Amino acid sequence: MTSVSTGLSPEQLQQAARDHLWLHFTRMSGYRDGEVPIIVRGDGCYLEDAHGKRYLDALAGLFAVQIGYSYGEEIGEAAAAQMRELPFYTNWSYAHPRAIELAAEVASLAPGDLNRVFFVSGGSEAVESAWKLARQYYSARGEHHRAAVAQAPTHDYDAERAARYTGERRWKAISRHVAYHGTTMGALSINGIPALRTPFEPLVPEVLHVRNTNRYHRPAAETEEEFTRILLDELQQTIEATGPETVCMVIMEPVQNAGGAFTPPEGYWRGVRELCDRYEILLCADEVITGFGRLGAWFGSERYDIRPDLVTCAKGLSSAYASIGAVIATDRVMEPFLQGERMYTHGITFGGHPVQAAIALKNIEIMRREKIVEHVDEQQDTVRATLEQLLDLPIVGDIRGTGFFYAVELVKDKDTRETFSDEECEELLRGFLTPRMFEAGLICRADDRGDPVIQISPPLIAGQAEWDELVGILGTVLEEAWQRI
Ligand SMILES: Cc1ncc(COP(=O)(O)O)c(C=O)c1O
Repeated sequence: MTSVSTGLSPEQLQQAARDHLWLHFTRMSGYRDGEVPIIVRGDGCYLEDAHGKRYLDALAGLFAVQIGYSYGEEIGEAAAAQMRELPFYTNWSYAHPRAIELAAEVASLAPGDLNRVFFVSGGSEAVESAWKLARQYYSARGEHHRAAVAQAPTHDYDAERAARYTGERRWKAISRHVAYHGTTMGALSINGIPALRTPFEPLVPEVLHVRNTNRYHRPAAETEEEFTRILLDELQQTIEATGPETVCMVIMEPVQNAGGAFTPPEGYWRGVRELCDRYEILLCADEVITGFGRLGAWFGSERYDIRPDLVTCAKGLSSAYASIGAVIATDRVMEPFLQGERMYTHGITFGGHPVQAAIALKNIEIMRREKIVEHVDEQQDTVRATLEQLLDLPIVGDIRGTGFFYAVELVKDKDTRETFSDEECEELLRGFLTPRMFEAGLICRADDRGDPVIQISPPLIAGQAEWDELVGILGTVLEEAWQRI
């Protein structure tokens, strides 16, 4: 097999990594003396490091590599063909075939009338673009409304009143506590994770955060119905208290990742949709993780019948073989932008890049051909049963999630559901679990942005053998962790 070589020896590569590469969300001090983990190749659900050691990738890169790592050849050919034909052109005022085809393909997969696709380079940009689009939608709609009223001779037109009625300048977003939506300033402001927000304050005005759907620490006697009611009441109160005419967007993931795969309780999405309709607020489903099969449907919005006005997606759109994301909008959201001189005043050089679009198209073709979404749907009950073996361990309090998207919550006391202190989390997650899992040949993420969880989200091609191996390694490492406590 030919390899893409830098000509550097393994030692030189390690030294250059230490000297020059700045890793994301990484305490670089740990690598002043310690070894930077260098992943050199992948196949199927597995990765290999610079020493030739193999790892089961139970995180699919970063919740992204739906088709696994073995389609480089086929996707590479599609990319090379596009490189030869048209290596770059822009979507600023112009179109090109791959962006058009991909937009049509995405629109055909997205539920309902989510028919309009605006391409970007990744998830944060998608969230950023959705918020800007939601803000501009109300002014565009307001102008449209004013123009319509002004043209109607029977109306005594009052611009002030019309502006108030349409909420012509809406700017606020509502998202949920502990939710992760990216790192650029707009997306960061939407994040509900204080530790990520605080260093960069003041942030973009103005985001309100409501409860997420974490049910594990709710009172035992509370019914699912009661829980849904509490969540929706709080959302309604938040909207009313801040002024509905100032809120342009509610943004939530179909299943929230940060905090650990919080699935929605029965009736939740129906209620959120009703509130957004009542107050004329756009509902955005952030499907950067859940889009493209992770929940056993092409979109989580379809699985939970969310009926969003906007969808943000990225990762799985190309199985992360390319850096491409998108905002998908309904016909209703598009409508005011189709009038007169109005436009969405936003653009990104690489949005809809032809090579990235060709890669995403090939990824979708492979996902269809290999029936990858169907595989997740069919396997999910077996997967859950396999994971639930971990519930026998004293440190495992909860296993939640759906599709190929799970979290294992770790607790100090299973009966009381007592969680670990910050110091214990630091020692347990960072000090022990993360390096120990890696040493044992398993890549998955120990996360303490909420209560401590292990996130499990392998490539969507994972079969029973990979799930068994994952649970085997994780079980052993969690037992060791318990011995240490
Ligand atoms: C729900 C969600 N939104 C947005 C993002 C940001 O995506 P990116 O890292 O591609 O900017 C992520 C990243 O994990 C995410 O999980």
